[in-house]
Parts: sequence; C-alpha cells; structure tokens
Amino acid sequence: MDQITRKAIELNKGPAGRAIAQPMEESLIHALYEHITLERSASAQYLALSLWFAERELRGFAKFFEKESREEMEHASSFCKYVVARGQTVVLDQLEKPNQDYVSIQDIISETFQMEVDVTTSLQQIYSMAERSNDARTTVFLDPVIEDQIKSEDYFAYLIGKVKFANENSSSILIIDNELSSIN
Ligand SMILES: [Fe+2]
Repeated sequence: MDQITRKAIELNKGPAGRAIAQPMEESLIHALYEHITLERSASAQYLALSLWFAERELRGFAKFFEKESREEMEHASSFCKYVVARGQTVVLDQLEKPNQDYVSIQDIISETFQMEVDVTTSLQQIYSMAERSNDARTTVFLDPVIEDQIKSEDYFAYLIGKVKFANENSSSILIIDNELSSIN
C-alpha cells in the first residue's frame, strides 16, 4: 500500500515539483500562457492610454485607463496563480511596445473595445479547449472571468456610443471626462 501511494505521488508532480490533482494538456497550458501575455499587453496599453489622456488634461479618462491597466495586470496575475495552483510553471513572454500614437479619442475607444473583444475570444477558445480535455477545473475558473469580461465589453460599447455622440467636441468630451473621474 505504502509503495502504491509513493508511486502515485511521484507520478503526479509538476515541473516545479508541486503536486498535481489533474494533469493539463500541453495545448491548454500554452493557450493560458498566450492569454497571460494578452492580459499583460492590455495592461501596458491601458497605462499608455492613461498617460496620453493625462498629458491632455483629461484626468477622468486618465484615471479610468489607469484603473483598467491595474485590473488587466490583476487578471494576468490571477491566471498565473491558477497555472501554479495546477502544479505547472508559468512562462512569461516578451511584450510589444504599447501604441502611443493616436489621432482621436474615438479611435482610442474603438481600439480598446476591440482589445476587450480579443480578450473574450481568447477566453472562449480556452474554455472550449478545457471542455474538450474534460478539464472542469479550468472551466469553473473561467466562468466568473468570462462574466466580468462581458461586463467590460458592455461598458466599452457604452463609452464608444458616448464618445461618438460627442464627436470630438471639447465641451462634450469634458462631460464624459467628468463622468469617468467619478468611477472608483
Ligand atoms: Fe482582462
């Protein structure tokens, strides 16, 4: 009995030596790595946007994107912790330089909406992969993440509508800026 137990423990250790309850498919681990990179890139991009607005005295937008940047880093961190909890190691990738060259607020908000959509698409792909490999732990982990992501898309779509309506008019942009400054 002792021998069997010892053998079982040896069989279920991850690359860093942590105990593994259920092995993960290699493709799923890599998809999670790519998703972590996507969240970290979004965080860097939102920080760049926060600075872009701060340099133009739009402190509400700057505050909003600084908060978004922090949240994306928290998402990346939560995925990293999940990978570690599953007994795997986390391989961090190099990030591309964030875009700091923008011509209009409408372009910025449209681009950020697309970023949010890309994040949701990545989550859906991971979800399908997890289902295909009967990895219920991963789908359970992803459920609240996807729910939050859908709320984010909804908010960015609302922001696109507001900014489009403002049509780059300074007074209207300042009203939106004021609304964003009151978000905690
Ligand atoms: Fe995120």
